[in-house]
Amino acid sequence: MADQRNPIIAALDVPTAEQALKLAELIAPAVGAFKIGGELFTAAGPDIVRRVRATGAAVFLDLKFHDIPNTVAKSVASALRLDVQMLTIHTSGGAEMMRAAEKSAVETAKQLGLAVPLVLGVTVLTSSDAGTLAEIGCEPHPEHQVARLAQLAVTAGLRGLVCSPLELVALRKILPPSIQLVTPGIRTGAEKADDQKRTLTPREALAAGASWLVIGRPIYGAEHPRVAAEQILATLN
Ligand code: C5P
Repeated sequence: MADQRNPIIAALDVPTAEQALKLAELIAPAVGAFKIGGELFTAAGPDIVRRVRATGAAVFLDLKFHDIPNTVAKSVASALRLDVQMLTIHTSGGAEMMRAAEKSAVETAKQLGLAVPLVLGVTVLTSSDAGTLAEIGCEPHPEHQVARLAQLAVTAGLRGLVCSPLELVALRKILPPSIQLVTPGIRTGAEKADDQKRTLTPREALAAGASWLVIGRPIYGAEHPRVAAEQILATLN
């Protein structure tokens, strides 16, 4: 499992393997793990996961699986063969799908002799609002839908969730304390405005109950990414 003393997960949201590895090597000493998402994975393939993992860093594979239970279970098994420590699935795939994902993570880890990775449930994407939920036939209350899906995920056996900084306090009130909450939407105040509308600082997010902080542009978009990561880490101690 990743280094729990450093809760920063740096998002490697860059388009090529070369850029990702250069960034990873530069900031590795200042972060706890790296997140590989759809952009990088689709461009660079599973090999980039192996290469980032080969640096010794923990890897969070953020591909947000959402499919029938059998396919999600097999996708989770494939992710484990790349030796990832965290991965995401959509909770809206339902309890049976989440149970299949968790079971696959536990069984595959046992077969491979690896630690069981954290299967993280994604509830309502932060880009969705009441209108988006109504459009797809859900109750038009994002906060109710987040709570409902989070509780379903816990009942189905997931041990962690991805949530926005502004959902942390409400989720901590209704979830068991052992549930790990991974939070993007982190801003220090030093960077220029972008598409993250509802943000907290790293320190505020930890105080509100985050276990891990996913930080992208404030690190990789900084003039000196290593310095930016070190400054963020210093605010946490
Ligand atoms: O650059 P920034 O710090 O906004 O990056 C946040 C990372 O977290 C990105 O990889 C983004 O895809 C991811 N994310 C997010 N909001 C969510 C879920 C994931 O920003 N609700």
